[in-house]
Amino acid sequence: MDKVVMKNISKQYEEDCQIIKDFNYIFEKGKMYVIMGPSGAGKTTLLNMLGTLENTDSGSILADDLDITGLLGDEKAEFRMEHIGFVFQAFYLNPRINVLDNVIVPMLVNKAIPKKERKKIAMENLKAFGMDRYSHKTVKNLSGGEQQRVAIARAMANNPDIILADEPTGNLDEKNEKIVFEYLKKLAEDGKIVIVVSHNDSAKAYADEIIMMDKVS
Ligand SMILES: Nc1ncnc2c1ncn2[C@@H]1O[C@H](COP(=O)(O)OP(=O)(O)OP(=O)(O)O)[C@@H](O)[C@H]1O
Ligand SMILES: [Mg+2]
Repeated sequence: MDKVVMKNISKQYEEDCQIIKDFNYIFEKGKMYVIMGPSGAGKTTLLNMLGTLENTDSGSILADDLDITGLLGDEKAEFRMEHIGFVFQAFYLNPRINVLDNVIVPMLVNKAIPKKERKKIAMENLKAFGMDRYSHKTVKNLSGGEQQRVAIARAMANNPDIILADEPTGNLDEKNEKIVFEYLKKLAEDGKIVIVVSHNDSAKAYADEIIMMDKVS
């Protein structure tokens, strides 16, 4: 994936309450983008539209040559599996299964990853965030920061070329915050498109471009 172009994107959930109006941006591979702005500005909504979890009202989102706003349900799921790594603001891990199995979940539907490789890939991803030694712990018994690191490892499961991270350091101490930002930056340098929503000023130092969003109305 070379670039994602958002053209004249608008979105509202309820009448007379525009969340995003005529948003235009070009996201290119090799760069880390940091989106900032007040609560309610539409940052999560923007990531969700780019990740095909939310429909746009108007405008187009071109992922290279493909307009993803025109995809149907199954096609969206396929696009997400092939291209998108999501780190959600609320982690959406499965609290009842262990850390390792959580990271393996996205690989279960990916025919490109042989079954016997799954565990190895999951362990490598966990290791990047110092979570490999927790692999057999049940998620509900982890701290918020530990869960956050598992969620990031899971986002990397299918080796996505677009990483969408919504407040990925919200629950982390400074040391782990640095690990996460450096990891995301490295992914960008390796040729991925990395888009991070953050309220954290220290994110700015890692950004190739900073996008300020504000409330429309
Ligand atoms: N499914 C929904 N239905 C109705 N309104 C919604 C829905 N999702 C979001 N909104 C509204 O859209 C606005 C933007 O929400 P969004 O979650 O994108 O904000 P945000 O910039 O991510 O804020 P935060 O920094 O608090 O996470 C908010 O006012 C929110 O209440
Ligand atoms: Mg949000």
